[in-house]
Amino acid sequence: MTPDIIIAPSILAADFANLAAEAKAVEGAADWLHVDVMDNHFVPNLTIGPPVVESLRRATGIPFDCHLMIEDPKRWAPAYAQLGAYNVTFHAEACDDPVALAKDLRAAGTLAGLAVDRDTPIEPYLELLPHFDTILVMTIKAGFGGQAFMPEMLDKVRAARRHVDAGHLDIRIEVDGGIAADTIEAAALAGADAFVAGTAVYGAHDPAEACRKLRALAQAAVARQTTSDSGGTTV
Ligand code: DX5
Ligand code: ZN
Repeated sequence: MTPDIIIAPSILAADFANLAAEAKAVEGAADWLHVDVMDNHFVPNLTIGPPVVESLRRATGIPFDCHLMIEDPKRWAPAYAQLGAYNVTFHAEACDDPVALAKDLRAAGTLAGLAVDRDTPIEPYLELLPHFDTILVMTIKAGFGGQAFMPEMLDKVRAARRHVDAGHLDIRIEVDGGIAADTIEAAALAGADAFVAGTAVYGAHDPAEACRKLRALAQAAVARQTTSDSGGTTV
């Protein structure tokens, strides 16, 4: 069964010396494990690459959501598919031909995701969405965890949701950056259905419980919206 809400903890906020344990800590509570790959060129930060992904894949059964904040994704992205990533997202700003790369990724056996960073409008990419399985709207400037959520980014989420619903597209709308108990409801109401959370999960005493709490908040927000849309009483 396809879950209505995807919760994807970001291991960027985890203890890098204990990644296997950190992945296990959210098993059963998270849908995807969000893996932030940064190359010190597309973004100033430097994180992890294929060898770590390969090893961590053997340590957990949670599907990997690889978010590539790298230059030249055409060259590097298919490797993450071959390593068994469930979804591979690359940035629109780093790729001349996103549709061609999406086709390569799907051919390599993974879902294909397109990310738009804080300063990138989403409109030029809406027509490409039939070629993708996920669209990731950054709700911060890509590069570092622990930044404040930017509510103005939700206009992009709303534009994506309108387009996806009008075209009956089978695609997840994912938000990444500053997602926590006090922001996830607004993102869900704007139309997101996949939520990356680093600090809010791995900064919590109990990461699995933090995932469950985030899911409950997103589900409740959507349920309230559905009730009010159908003319019922909102509580
Ligand atoms: C930042 C990364 C995010 C980051 C989010 O560029 O893409 O996935 O881990 O971290 P929080 O949830 O702490 O904002
Ligand atoms: Zn990310």
